[in-house]
Amino acid sequence: MKLPKKGIPSDDLFARMNEMKTQDADWRGGRTWSLIYPAGEDVDEVLRRANELYVYENALNPFRFPSLQHMEADVVAMTVDMLHGDDRSSGTMTSGGTESILMGVKTARDRALVERGITDPQMIAPISAHPAFAKAAKYLGLELRQAPLREDLRVDVDAVEKLITANTVLIVGSAPNYPHGVIDPIEQLAGLAASREISFHTDACVGGFILPFLERLGHPVPPFDFRVPGVTTISADVHKYGYCTKGASVIAHRDKATLDHQIFLYDQWPGGLYGSPALAGARPAAPIAAAWAVMNYLGEDGYMRLAKVILDTVTALRRGIDAIEQLHIWGEPDATLLAFGSEEIDIAAVGDIMDDRGWHLDRQENPGALHMMVTPNHAKIVELFLTDLREAAANPGKSRGKQARYS
Ligand SMILES: Cc1ncc(COP(=O)(O)O)c(C=O)c1O
Repeated sequence: MKLPKKGIPSDDLFARMNEMKTQDADWRGGRTWSLIYPAGEDVDEVLRRANELYVYENALNPFRFPSLQHMEADVVAMTVDMLHGDDRSSGTMTSGGTESILMGVKTARDRALVERGITDPQMIAPISAHPAFAKAAKYLGLELRQAPLREDLRVDVDAVEKLITANTVLIVGSAPNYPHGVIDPIEQLAGLAASREISFHTDACVGGFILPFLERLGHPVPPFDFRVPGVTTISADVHKYGYCTKGASVIAHRDKATLDHQIFLYDQWPGGLYGSPALAGARPAAPIAAAWAVMNYLGEDGYMRLAKVILDTVTALRRGIDAIEQLHIWGEPDATLLAFGSEEIDIAAVGDIMDDRGWHLDRQENPGALHMMVTPNHAKIVELFLTDLREAAANPGKSRGKQARYS
């Protein structure tokens, strides 16, 4: 396509866009099990209004748009508080989990260079950690050492210990991880790190905005946040279970001192001092405004209400899947994600049948599985889903060979 010679009237344009959009996943109907975190029409409305109010502003310069500086500081403070940071804690917002993770890795790398003189940095992450850590290692010049999982699909702490060398700058654990929804043994991992002056990052991109509320509901949540000694940074995504529109995450630091290793300052050009907290230069304002709006709109009671809906939905789904003879859930998911597979039937073939019935379940490997990220929007389809799944598992045949791919 080339740029049109003459501009297209907006009515025609939106007609075309709406037409193209009919090809997209039906997430409103609760048939999509990843990527989107809908929390109800009232939340949609708040997000729309916040996005509209900040379509044009740029968060690069906090002096020009102090309202954005104010809202970012509030979002970080509320998140740090939820994660049990204290007066010494701090952080910034980023565009998403990947950018928060990149900043956590950069902080660990630069801290180790300054404090320990390490010039060939290595990091250790579970094999189940999100690919953002591999990306960070590649972008930032670290060697990634992957640790295997135990039978319960949590990382093997002894294996992590064996991978530590004099060049280890960072150890990582997930709370929970994406593939199986289980939380790594954060206390033990962070303990290993702390005793050697190594940074430790909890990837709570998924868990940061749901685990605190599950815990308050009395659900057993293993320790993962700043209450665990040795945890130095945490990534927590507002655009996942914080229910914000995309482009909003927090990288939280236990101690403001390590934030210096994240921030980029530069004055060797004619434009004067340039400061940037993360990867992006110009930063969209709307995600900051939307994060601030949705967090204040929902408040603790709103997040608790939604967490209860999800917990009940997950419980019903787990029960329903466990009751299907051919299927079982891998591991013991700690939160609101799960993966299920089978020893008897081809689980990818079950995925094919579910595709044909309009469900979007991601396929996984080692072990073979179908993956579910449960949101409040799924409460309404539990029975419909389980009926289709039961029928699909009864006689799935052979799969069409569709590749396992993330989201
Ligand atoms: C556990 C975990 N960490 C990090 C990320 C990366 O987040 P993002 O896609 O916002 O970059 C994800 C995304 O699903 C995730 O599940």
